[in-house]
Amino acid sequence: MVAVARKHNLKVVEDAACAVGAEYMWDGEWEKVGRCRGDVAVFSFHPRKIMSTGDGGMLTTPHADWNKQFKLLRQHGMSVPDTVRHGSNQVIFETHPVLGYNYRMTDIQAAVGREQLRRLPGIVARRREIADKYRALLSSAQWIGLPLEPQGMKSNWQSFAIRLPDYADQRAVMQAMLDAGIATRRGIMCSHREDGYKNGNHPPLPHSEGCQDRTIVLPLYPQMTDADLELVASTLKKATEPK
Ligand SMILES: Cc1ncc(COP(=O)(O)O)c(C=O)c1O
Repeated sequence: MVAVARKHNLKVVEDAACAVGAEYMWDGEWEKVGRCRGDVAVFSFHPRKIMSTGDGGMLTTPHADWNKQFKLLRQHGMSVPDTVRHGSNQVIFETHPVLGYNYRMTDIQAAVGREQLRRLPGIVARRREIADKYRALLSSAQWIGLPLEPQGMKSNWQSFAIRLPDYADQRAVMQAMLDAGIATRRGIMCSHREDGYKNGNHPPLPHSEGCQDRTIVLPLYPQMTDADLELVASTLKKATEPK
């Protein structure tokens, strides 16, 4: 994608909202998402993500001039941030050369985020272990589609989404799981189907719609025990097995 974008003089914004800790192979080396081979990578720290600061997010960019501009925009377009002015032994008067926003991260959020970053390698390792266990537990149920990890990519397993067989009703399966005390989520919603976002002007998107309608996301968090995983797998198999 980066090669195509460069060829046509386009910019690449990486939606890395869910991808902190995920990796891909670049020129024969494993690299973390966010090293940013495009122009900007954007991360979400919403509580559903594998590391959180309560809410908010972070962006990375390889462009020093963009970095400067983002820092300017995030704090009301203030030319010299308060942290720099207050630490200086010179009197500095700031200016506001552009209209900006209040997109600052609070110190408290940053403190939480730094601690989460320290724990991130362990969190990702544990999530990968759980994904492997799910795979092993579900492999005998050939009617369930398991997620693929393409070669040269390592997921952080933010979500472990399985594909239901055509005969299974998504809502009924999710309800059966919930009745057994297991919360699942449906596949990520398609924006073109939501009234607030649709513009009626898109080509057919059967694969996206299939992902929304035919997948469910299983619970996955580091504290899950083997017994938890076995319960999820056996309940899912029972709720979806061919009659
Ligand atoms: C792929 C993707 N992009 C963007 C977002 C939005 O992130 P936020 O809620 O932090 O704006 C999400 C949130 O789930 C996401 O999964």
